[in-house]
Amino acid sequence: MSQSFFILSGEHQDLAKDELVSVSKSYDIKALYRVDSRLVIITSSTPWKKIAKRATFVRAAGNLAGTFKDISKIEFPKSYTFACRAINLSSKKINTLAIEKETGAILKQKLGCRVSLLDPTLTVYLVITDNNRYVGYADALEYKRSTKEIKYPTELDWKLGRCMVNLSRLKEGRTLCDPFCGTGTILLEAKSMGIRCIGIDFDSKMCEISRKNLTANGYKAGVINSTYHHISKIKDKIDAIVTDVPYGTASRSSMSPKKVIQDFVSVVPKKMKLVLVYKKGMDVDGLAKAKKYEIYRHKSLTRVIAIR
Ligand SMILES: C[S@@+](CC[C@H](N)C(=O)[O-])C[C@H]1O[C@@H](n2cnc3c(N)ncnc32)[C@H](O)[C@@H]1O
Repeated sequence: MSQSFFILSGEHQDLAKDELVSVSKSYDIKALYRVDSRLVIITSSTPWKKIAKRATFVRAAGNLAGTFKDISKIEFPKSYTFACRAINLSSKKINTLAIEKETGAILKQKLGCRVSLLDPTLTVYLVITDNNRYVGYADALEYKRSTKEIKYPTELDWKLGRCMVNLSRLKEGRTLCDPFCGTGTILLEAKSMGIRCIGIDFDSKMCEISRKNLTANGYKAGVINSTYHHISKIKDKIDAIVTDVPYGTASRSSMSPKKVIQDFVSVVPKKMKLVLVYKKGMDVDGLAKAKKYEIYRHKSLTRVIAIR
């Protein structure tokens, strides 16, 4: 068991914390977490990089090594160059530059390597909260985001899509279905994490866009031109449904968006994990017990992410 630290970016804090916990628990159900301001400390058997690569709202992460007072006893890994980064999460004004310089001088002797502010092989983090002064370290985290060849005005923000995939707690090799896949935002994020995908959309043009976006990233995923009712035919192949339901009345559907959500939720098998996003005000009975998060976008759009 090791301790890792994650500093949240500050966007959607409750959602961000729950996403991080979901990712860590998907790999290690016994993972424990503690929150101190925007700092989340996770004790688990999973290396920090595996969690950080997936988490959407994390600004910095690494191994938690101890606190300022025992910095001289901390064993840092061997490295060619290093940099100190002080992050103030406390309610007080703190001269982080002075702390970085001071600690940098101590560590230069201890580590026996030179400082490189631009491209350090090791970054030592000094994280200050109202409760403690933590020390952590990290080497570079390399990861490539999916790109979108074809965009569309109704597409979901990739950050919400990624976060929703993580809230489903699916690991590599499991299968996700997005039955309202549109341009494939959720499929692209899931594929980038090694999750298998099936997309469904009743609009053949949207299916084509999804396929092109997936192919452009070198991903293979089945995209089926059908309505969400197709779920009942493939339910045995799916581990979770993650989706972004229509917000307005679709031209090809005579049903109101609320009726679509209501019917869709009733089609999803009760025991199947469901993470969906919809426009606030479209709550339906089938989601009464779901955990919900509100995401304000602009004055006429607040989204709700629900997990059932
Ligand atoms: C809000 S958009 C999804 C956007 C998508 N998340 C993206 O990022 O591009 C909803 C999608 O549901 C599709 N749709 C609407 N009614 C449907 C139905 N009954 N069955 C399947 N797809 C449907 C629409 O064609 C549209 O692409």
